[in-house]
Amino acid sequence: MKKNSFQTIRQAEIFAKSNIRKGSFEWLQAGAEDNLTRDKNLYDLKIAKILPKHLTGLKKLDFSSNIFGKKIKSPLILSPMGHQSQFHKNGEIETAKAFNNMQRISFFSTQGRMSLKDIRKRNKNAYLGWEIFPFGHTNWIKNEIKNAEKLKCLSICLCIDANVRSHRYQDREIDYDARKFGTRTNPTPPNPKLALNYDWSLVTWIKKNTKLPLVIKGIMTKKDAQEAIKRKVDAIWVSNHGGRMFNSGISSLEALREVSNLKSKTTKIFVDGGVRKGSDIIKYLCAGADLVGIGRPAMYGLILDGAAGVRRVFEILESELSTAMINGGFKNLKHMQKSRIKK
Ligand SMILES: Cc1cc2nc3c(=O)[nH]c(=O)nc-3n(C[C@H](O)[C@H](O)[C@H](O)COP(=O)(O)O)c2cc1C
Repeated sequence: MKKNSFQTIRQAEIFAKSNIRKGSFEWLQAGAEDNLTRDKNLYDLKIAKILPKHLTGLKKLDFSSNIFGKKIKSPLILSPMGHQSQFHKNGEIETAKAFNNMQRISFFSTQGRMSLKDIRKRNKNAYLGWEIFPFGHTNWIKNEIKNAEKLKCLSICLCIDANVRSHRYQDREIDYDARKFGTRTNPTPPNPKLALNYDWSLVTWIKKNTKLPLVIKGIMTKKDAQEAIKRKVDAIWVSNHGGRMFNSGISSLEALREVSNLKSKTTKIFVDGGVRKGSDIIKYLCAGADLVGIGRPAMYGLILDGAAGVRRVFEILESELSTAMINGGFKNLKHMQKSRIKK
């Protein structure tokens, strides 16, 4: 079977493993320490149950929505991921091609290998979000914000859950250092140690310094969600970084259940972690998310067939989402309600 003919995400995962150097694959898969948080994301999605509704006169399916003033075609988005030139020589530039003219949202980050300018140059019509790690003085952060505004990003995102590199046994035990592989055009952030100096006043400061919608990524508790909402952020992103930063944490589904009541017209909720099937997307939407991100699956696609592979991953998941919506009796995103999901 040809490597780019994958039919499911689990098949893409298997194919990707044999089409990339071992270290890069282990680094992509790895979670903090021995992967407990990563695996909990998958497990909690797996055991959650969806309640179907039948004979609902479901004539036409619609999973479009409005986010930050834009009509988007799908609730499925690309989560930000760093160091993508390990998986394809053009890294993030190639990944972004999968979103050009697609009316779907993709996030890229200051940890990426390709600069936002280069990503934008080749992808004029992609809905891009730019994620900033607080790895420098506020002057540097301000420059990143202004650059994202100039390059017509849809939003700014602040990553709050990755202060230092974590110990990931899966790549550490084979002595793999991702930083040594792949090219870059994006300069490395000036001073990662500064992340430890910041507190919630940084969010207030960023909010004052941009007109773009602000998303805070890495929210896992009600307390942090309240801190973010108090500062009038436009979205909270429930995420444990795919379990990569902190072991023995709770899953994204557990966290989403904690914070979903805080959703309002002015504060959207994004979530990611463990999505590998269409029904996973329904579960997150029913539990209260407006948008659902994927990380690793998109990189399997990138490894296997560049932008076409990333697009295929999205097509597969959206096709499974459509089918699951039809068979479950969900006409649109408004039908995704808490009463339709059980533990
Ligand atoms: C290789 C890799 C690099 C990542 N880099 C970032 C990053 O730069 N910023 C960030 O907020 N999250 C990063 N993440 C976490 C993702 O944004 C996302 O939260 C996670 O991958 C979702 O889980 P999933 O991989 O199970 O879909 C990274 C994840 C992976 C797998």
